[in-house]
Amino acid sequence: MYEKTLVLLKPDAIERQLIGSIITYFEEAGLKIHGLKLLKAKKSVVETHYQEHKEKPFFPSVVEFLTSGPIVALVVGGYESIAKVRKICGDTEPGKAEVASIRGRWAHISRHSMTGGILKNLVHSSDCRESAAKEISLWFDECELLDYSSPNDGWFNF
Ligand code: CMP
Repeated sequence: MYEKTLVLLKPDAIERQLIGSIITYFEEAGLKIHGLKLLKAKKSVVETHYQEHKEKPFFPSVVEFLTSGPIVALVVGGYESIAKVRKICGDTEPGKAEVASIRGRWAHISRHSMTGGILKNLVHSSDCRESAAKEISLWFDECELLDYSSPNDGWFNF
């Protein structure tokens, strides 16, 4: 089934100038970009985004990290894209991520991957359909999302 999912490129991805490389990963996997913006996230939006982790000890540091610099928000679509994008991103803990994943490729031996309790793992992606729907509407207005066809559609399972 065609699904849309939310991806955030975190401040470490922007500081390390990996925006293009990370987006290329998704495009080369046949996934389509439906929404894309560079922004400085509001604390309240990040708190809502991570509300399921509110009671976890790392909650304040992840909120501080996500609001510490610019981020990129993306809506990525494709056949079973929620699970596919999670695989492409790799394990939450960069040291455990497959080498061919985004986190495995650029963060697994990063000096800064775990500093002061902050897990700098480059990307976030929605973990299920319910979260994807909630997260997409938290970060994007309806009018910021576009559907379009591409000559490549014939190559991929939409
Ligand atoms: P993400 O995929 O965005 O989902 C929840 C985020 O919380 C996760 O990536 C990390 O940035 C952060 N996180 C999860 N576990 C830990 C941890 N043990 N210590 C610090 N941060 C964590």
